[in-house]
Parts: sequence; structure tokens; C-alpha cells
Amino acid sequence: MDRVAGVKILTTIAAVGAEPRRKPRVLVPTMGALHKAHGELIRVARERAGKDGEVVVSIFVNPLQFEPGSDYERYPRPQKADEEFCRSAGVDLLFRPSVEEVYPNDRSTFVEEISLSSTLEGKSRPGHFRGVCTVVAKLFNILAPDAAVFGEKDFQQLAIVRRMVRDLNFNIDIVAVPTVREEDDLACSSRNQYLNPEERKQATILHDALRAAANAGKRSASDIVALARKTINEAPLARIDYVEVVDAETLQPLEMSGPNTVLLVAVFFGKTRLIDNITLA
Ligand code: PAJ
Repeated sequence: MDRVAGVKILTTIAAVGAEPRRKPRVLVPTMGALHKAHGELIRVARERAGKDGEVVVSIFVNPLQFEPGSDYERYPRPQKADEEFCRSAGVDLLFRPSVEEVYPNDRSTFVEEISLSSTLEGKSRPGHFRGVCTVVAKLFNILAPDAAVFGEKDFQQLAIVRRMVRDLNFNIDIVAVPTVREEDDLACSSRNQYLNPEERKQATILHDALRAAANAGKRSASDIVALARKTINEAPLARIDYVEVVDAETLQPLEMSGPNTVLLVAVFFGKTRLIDNITLA
């Protein structure tokens, strides 16, 4: 056990077991490289935990959710800065386990959601949500939180975690936090730092495209998608992966937008793939 001012740092599962707990325990699962949006999740967790409860942040760059050949190795791991971030955000416990302990070499059990995971990110990144569900289920079992906080930026991830919690009877409330944005409306992401200055400038087109498509008064999904695509293509460095209108709960494609529909995009700028979404009226 190590300590940075008020934050207790736990690096093993046994240390978590030995730790006295305060209720409610509210978990914010992350992969580190903490930024403003993680700060907002921690703030919401603090509010939810109240003065008697505790806020736990987990930092684990989960190899299982990175497809082969993707950015697992180069994913940022600023350990000291993250500790300092947690300290100044008033986090009580920081859980930072090793890959070896989370994934024993002879592991043979995984958690897989098979419906919501088949579209959008799941189609572009095979195996990604199996990795997410497996690690989130493990974190839920290890830390036994009363509630866990997730961001709406990763809209599909949030829907899948909710489904997993329902299907596997985890007794954990899932709390959603609206997407946090930079001053120019680009959604905060640990991957934004991969963008070169020109890519970073052009990436603001994502939110412009979502907003323009959502506010054009169109109902037909193909009109909405066409409008979003047209705007994104105005950025010469943008390469669209998908633009889709889906039902917010089932994530199935829709022909018409209505209550409970969402427009989602995934776009490459150079090698960096960014996602964003907006709820449609
Ligand atoms: P990570 O990308 O670190 O994100 C941790 C949490 O922060 C997720 O719930 C994500 O949705 C939220 N988040 C990130 N950027 C956000 C933004 N701009 N606005 C609102 N919320 C935002 O998502 C993961 O890690 C992993 O998949 C994890 C759930 C930890 C499992 O490994």
C-alpha cells in the first residue's frame, strides 16, 4: 500500500480485500491518462457517494479490449500525473492492478454481450466489447461497488454495461454522465493527444456535423446521415468509419428518428479514430 496525500493506492486484489469499506462505494473505471471528463465522472461519483461514502477510481489499460495491431503499447500511462489528478479530485481509493494479476496466463473465462455488441464499434473493433465486459465484470467483482459511473461519450459501451448488469444481476447502479467537451466542442478523449495540430483543428468538425444534422429538422435517418457525412467530408483529413442513426436502447439502425434515437459517428484523423454522438429529438 502506498499513499499520495489523501488517496490510498491499492495495487493488488488482496489489498482491496483488506481495506475497510465505507458505503456507498462508487466506482469510476478508467484506463488512466486522466483528463477533464474523468474529472467530471469523479465529481459525479463524489456527489453520489456523499460524505459517508467513498470514491474509487480504477486505472487499468486493459489489453483484452485492444484489437491486435492497435494502440495498446502506445496508450499513454502517465502514472504520477494520474496520482496527482486523483489526489486533487478528492478520490479516496485508487486501484491500479497489474496485468499479470488481472489476467492469469491460463485464464479461460470471458464475459460476452452478443446483441448490442454486434453493431457500430463492435463491428469495427471485433472483440473490443468482450474485453470491456470481461474487465468491467472483474472490477465489479473485485471492488463490489454500490454504483459505477460511465460517460455517454462511449454511448455503446454504456448501453452494453447496463445490459450486462441487468443480464448478470449485478447489484450495482449505473450512473451516466453527459459528454464533456473541450472549449471548441471536441469531446475530451485520451486519444486527442495523438492528433497533430492540423488534425486537432479539423476534428472539431465532428460536433459541428452532429449538431447540424440533429438540428436540421429532418426525420429520415438517411437524410440525417447524409447531412452529417457532408459536413464531416468538408474536413480534408477526415476519413469516415461510420455514421449511423440507431435506437438508443437496442442500438439497431432506424429509418426514422424519434424519441430515444441517437446519431453516432466514428471518424479517423490520420491514424487516430475518434467517436462522438448526439441524442436526436
Ligand atoms: P476510458 O477511455 O479511460 O474512459 C473512462 C470513462 O470515462 C468511461 O466511462 C468513458 O465513457 C468516460 N469518458 C471518456 N471521455 C469522456 C467524455 N469526453 N465525456 C464523458 N465521459 C467520458 O472507457 C474506458 O476507459 C474503458 O473501456 C473502461 C470502461 C475503463 C474498461 O476498460
